[in-house]
Amino acid sequence: MIALRGATTVDCDCAEQIKERVKELLCEIKAKNRLDENKIICMIFSGTSDIHSYYPAKAAREAGFYSCPLFSALEPEIDGSLKLCIRVMVLAETSAPAEHVYLHNAAALRKDITQIINIALDGPAGSGKSTVSKILGKKLNILCLDTGAMYRACALKCLNEGVPANDEAAVAKIMEDISLEVKYADGVQRTFLDGKDVSEDIRKPEISMLASTVATLRCVREKMVALQREIASKTSCILDGRDIGTNVLPNAKFKFYLTASPEVRAQRRAEESRAKGFNVPYEQILQKIIQRDNQDINRKIAPLTVAGDAIIVDSSSMTVNEVVAFIENKIQEKI
Ligand code: DC
Repeated sequence: MIALRGATTVDCDCAEQIKERVKELLCEIKAKNRLDENKIICMIFSGTSDIHSYYPAKAAREAGFYSCPLFSALEPEIDGSLKLCIRVMVLAETSAPAEHVYLHNAAALRKDITQIINIALDGPAGSGKSTVSKILGKKLNILCLDTGAMYRACALKCLNEGVPANDEAAVAKIMEDISLEVKYADGVQRTFLDGKDVSEDIRKPEISMLASTVATLRCVREKMVALQREIASKTSCILDGRDIGTNVLPNAKFKFYLTASPEVRAQRRAEESRAKGFNVPYEQILQKIIQRDNQDINRKIAPLTVAGDAIIVDSSSMTVNEVVAFIENKIQEKI
């Protein structure tokens, strides 16, 4: 079961507009969440005390929501609160992520979900960006774009075509007709290379260094950055990468740089790899991390660096939950 939130306002306390706005709100909730009416368990409305002309629940019935129980309540009068506002909670049987809907002046109540917000989360390999990004994306109900996956897919393409990742002319040629798509299944990113889902293949350890190498090339970066900007312009998302705050979205409202000492990052990776049943020695992982950091930091185009206006989070002695809570607080402060 899911609880969908929604709110709208009316310009005046008049029955016609209450009916119209309630209908609009419910239709939007239904459409955004692809809800069948028979999946709706009930709807609970509340209205501010300046609304007298019509029950929102009655308006819902008249809007065609016949089968579910409806209830309307009156909200207390709170100083400074939004006027002429109708709120709803729709309980429904679905497991899809909730798309809450805030319309008209009620959009101001939840700027986080009514504005397009982009969150740049940069940092070196193993700093915990993707873990944090996935949790935050879920909490804020926005997409997570793992931009590293895109460079990894380019590296896989090089491997498949037998092209050395540092041969700019040859890579430029395969980049001309590469088909790279990012899709989402149940909110989880899947990366498609030339029509094939390569989400697992690109996670192989040998792809990491190759991705870092291919990411030094202008022909690759230009194509990936254009795709990342296009996605970010259409929807609220958290983008994790190396150059999001400095290059991809220099005007992003929220910028974080997540880091940790190379030793801590290597330790985390070693634990991850043990959990997957591999036994890669810690020293080897540490050496690879340092090598990759060097390449990402020292490349000529869009190197890994802290944006001047980014908040630095050193997670060396923080838990994942602490990092998430810290970033979430900073976002809420600024919204
Ligand atoms: O985050 P990751 O380990 O999946 O990234 C793989 C490589 O891709 C990384 O070493 C450098 C490159 N990359 C980049 O250059 N710019 C980004 N925005 C993301 C990743």
